[in-house]
Amino acid sequence: MTEQVVRFVGVPERIELDDGIVIRRYVAADVPTIVAVVNASLDHLRPWMPWAQNPVTDETQGAWFRETDPQWDDGTNFVYGIFSAEGRLLGGTGFHVRNGPGVLEIGYWLATDAVGHGVATRTSAALTEAARAVPGVTRVQIHCDEGNHRSGAIPQRLGYTLARVEPREPQAPGETGRHQIWTFDV
Ligand SMILES: CC(C)(COP(=O)(O)OP(=O)(O)OC[C@H]1O[C@@H](n2cnc3c(N)ncnc32)[C@H](O)[C@@H]1OP(=O)(O)O)[C@@H](O)C(=O)NCCC(=O)NCCS
Repeated sequence: MTEQVVRFVGVPERIELDDGIVIRRYVAADVPTIVAVVNASLDHLRPWMPWAQNPVTDETQGAWFRETDPQWDDGTNFVYGIFSAEGRLLGGTGFHVRNGPGVLEIGYWLATDAVGHGVATRTSAALTEAARAVPGVTRVQIHCDEGNHRSGAIPQRLGYTLARVEPREPQAPGETGRHQIWTFDV
């Protein structure tokens, strides 16, 4: 049996938070900024992000942008940058479409110097709210390794429920292999 492709339309391309932080779809011109910010944050990203094991380049991130950007129009993956009111790239976030019908999964990472100010929590709150307005979405999820306490604190702060913990082959060096699935019904 072929697996049904899940697609969503109506995901907003830009969300502005009260304090001027802008969550927006990336454009090609963001690639050099992404490269600079990721490389400056590698030590903090490496334990948890499989794609941040080695320095990235304009070529690797350009290829990543060319792969992910059409997925937005396809309705199968939605990747955003998080920008300060002054336009500084603070981190990345997005909705993954990989958990079956009705489900959007929020992912996030922050630059080292953006950690500790509630940026990821407020971004995830805004994305959870935005998901409510997307036709067909019934549930939002956040997945993280049990050892990633800063990440797990985010769904906890937002009132998500820990639905289950599954074994999963570690994909980054900090992972324990116990994969938490937090859910929020919208
Ligand atoms: C996971 C990650 C995004 C969490 O970052 P974070 O800075 O801890 O999360 P937030 O931006 O929501 O900030 C929370 C902190 O700000 C504080 N805070 C301040 N104002 C706040 C507000 N308005 N709302 C929520 N928290 C606020 C919180 O008390 C918390 O403080 P603490 O550092 O003492 O715990 C970050 O650690 C990271 O990028 N890690 C590497 C990549 C990664 O693991 N990604 C997730 C994979 S599953």
